Amino acid sequence: MFEFHRRIDWDANATTSVSASVRREMVRILESIHGNPSSPHRIAHDAAEVLEDARMLVGSALGVEPTSIHFTAGATEAANQVLRGAVRLPGSCRRILTSPTEHASVLATLEDLERSEGVQVVRLPVDSRGVLDLRVLEDAFSEPADLVCCMLANNETGVVQDVGAVVEVAHRRGARVFCDVVQALGKMPVDLAAMDVDFANISAHKIHGPKGIGALYVKSGCALPALHTGGHQEEGRRAGTEAVHDIAGLAQALRDLPRQLGNCEGVRAVRKEFEEGLSRILPEVEFASGRGTGLCNTVHARFPGIPNSVLLGWLDHQGIAVSAGSACNTSSDRPSHVLTAMGRKETAARESLRFSLDPALSPRLLRRQARIVLGKIDDYLRGKVPDVQLLTPATLSPLLQDPRVLVVDARHSVDRKWIPPLSRAVQISWPFGSHLEELPKDRFVVFVCQVGFDAPILAWKLRKSRKGPVGFLAGGMMAWKCSPNNRSNPN
Ligand SMILES: Cc1ncc(COP(=O)(O)O)c(C=O)c1O
Repeated sequence: MFEFHRRIDWDANATTSVSASVRREMVRILESIHGNPSSPHRIAHDAAEVLEDARMLVGSALGVEPTSIHFTAGATEAANQVLRGAVRLPGSCRRILTSPTEHASVLATLEDLERSEGVQVVRLPVDSRGVLDLRVLEDAFSEPADLVCCMLANNETGVVQDVGAVVEVAHRRGARVFCDVVQALGKMPVDLAAMDVDFANISAHKIHGPKGIGALYVKSGCALPALHTGGHQEEGRRAGTEAVHDIAGLAQALRDLPRQLGNCEGVRAVRKEFEEGLSRILPEVEFASGRGTGLCNTVHARFPGIPNSVLLGWLDHQGIAVSAGSACNTSSDRPSHVLTAMGRKETAARESLRFSLDPALSPRLLRRQARIVLGKIDDYLRGKVPDVQLLTPATLSPLLQDPRVLVVDARHSVDRKWIPPLSRAVQISWPFGSHLEELPKDRFVVFVCQVGFDAPILAWKLRKSRKGPVGFLAGGMMAWKCSPNNRSNPN
């Protein structure tokens, strides 16, 4: 049956759209309030009031005092401040314990501190569900540490850690705990005081607020140096004039949050039906953290034998946005660090997709979307898709000299510097889709991209408008570069 649908965004863990109420509130503030909150007059006072109202809302959403909340330009900045600050404090032993499944904002910052400052970073193993082992944490305190990083909910798998138990161990051993609650907020209750964490961060764009704004929680009595120098805004913790309209947007998103939280049980029910549906159409499907556990909205599934780039491309072509992991890592070829830390083989990591439902949508709408997504996956599995040829480096290699074949290189110039184009490949520039009309109709068009996500989308798009053969290189130029066939013969 033909079902019309607008785009389905099942990538809510990457970001969410700005809601109508947030947009209205931000416009209201932009139109009516322009003062610098730090200035000493009435106009400034109006702006300062917006900040203090927002601070109260953040504090109450997280179960802590408003005075412990500081606005930042997003969660990444807040994480940087905590990690870089922790090792600058007098008496710091410059040793940090972390779970290896943290977000890139933590892991990349720790790598940098390791490299540039000689900080000792200990990455504790997790079990096959991605859960931190408390005995391993306890053992890691055979030497003192300043800080433990443990996120509440994982952005890729949705697995939820027992942060209260982690805090108990860390505090007993004299370490502070930084907890990234970015993904948990709005998908489960978050009470920082009950968990007793020392530092935490949130991000507005994950809860239908604007991008580039977030907040840092610093427990009263915990010292933390500022990340950069400047004015004394945010109690000296974050220099720079506050983005009043963005902060008002974050506050409005938090006002709307109880409604979203009220949806969570319904969202979990849809998720369960979706997981059951996947198992019905593909019994071999595997769920990264087990079925039904973790965040209400996140399904992380492995489709054995199917490269995630191909299924992702097919779904995108059908107007359905999903993801192969964290949005911060899509331009890299490395398989998900979360899955590898959970002991999955590289192939398994490359066959996994994340479906993150938007918990602000009604379960009724999500159920309708789930039916469509399942239908499109089923079409793919039954081969009911336009005929597009999937090429590997081995099958593409002999075609490169064939004059009837046109290889189209759909990559950004920076990627071409890193891996040179195939000989005789035609290069098209961003936006790649706008060049499809120009391609000759009498040749077998083969798209190649960097890591394999763009080419299948282009191939299916082109196939829709023409009869001739179309193909793409699975895994992109990265697969080409790594292929034993082509190591000695880059072109
Ligand atoms: C778990 C987690 N932490 C931190 C971040 C970074 O947030 P921001 O985009 O506000 O810097 C994200 C967003 O991708 C995330 O999912």
